[in-house]
Amino acid sequence: MNIVVFISGRGSNLKALLKDQNGYQVTHVISDKRGIKGFDVAKQFGIPHSYINWKERPKAEAIATEILTEEQPDLIVLAGFMKVLSANFVEKFHHQIINIHPSLLPDYPGLNTHQRVLNDRKTEHGASVHFVDNQLDHGQIISQTRIAVETHDTAESLATKLILKEHKLLVQTVGQIANKYLFWRDNTLFYIDKPLQKPLVY
Ligand code: GRF
Repeated sequence: MNIVVFISGRGSNLKALLKDQNGYQVTHVISDKRGIKGFDVAKQFGIPHSYINWKERPKAEAIATEILTEEQPDLIVLAGFMKVLSANFVEKFHHQIINIHPSLLPDYPGLNTHQRVLNDRKTEHGASVHFVDNQLDHGQIISQTRIAVETHDTAESLATKLILKEHKLLVQTVGQIANKYLFWRDNTLFYIDKPLQKPLVY
C-alpha cells in the first residue's frame, strides 16, 4: 500500500511510519511549511518531498491534487498537518484521508488540547486517529490511545508522554489498513468481519 504523508513541522509521526513501513511504503511527503525538521526526516529516508505554499487554499490544493494524481496513494495520512482541507478536496479523496489528533475525540477538536484538558481538570487524555470528513478533527474515529493526567502534569509533560503513544497508535492503525483488517464497505468501516463499533485501543 502506498501512502502520502502531509506534515507541518517536526515530523516525529512521519519518522515512526518510515521506520515501520510494514505492508506499506511512504512515497511522498507534502508540507505547507519550508525548512521544517520533517523534511530532514524525509531526506534521511530518501523520500520525495514537496513544499506547497498554502496562502491560497484552492491553488495549494490543486498542486497537492497533481502530486496525488501522480502518486496514486491508497491512503493519505495527515500527521501534524496544520491546515484545514476543503470539503471539495476531502470529497475527492473520500475515505482515503486519515488524521492523528492529540485528544480523545470527539472531545477537544482544534488546538491546545493539552492545556484545555488541564483547564478542565480531566484525569484522562489521549490521541485519536480518524478518517477525515469536511469538519475539523471530525469523521469516523478508528483508534485511540489513553494516558493518565497526573496532578503535576503541564501541557508540555502531557505532550511528551502522549507523543510516544501517538507514534505507536498511528503505525498500528496504518498497519491495520495496509493489511486490510480495516476497510470500507458500502460506507461502513469494517474491522475484520464486522462493522467497527468502537475505536480500536492501542
Ligand atoms: C502531534 O501531536 C499530532 O497529533 C498533532 O501534531 C503533532 C505532530 O507532531 N496533530 P509531529 O510533527 O509528528 O512530531
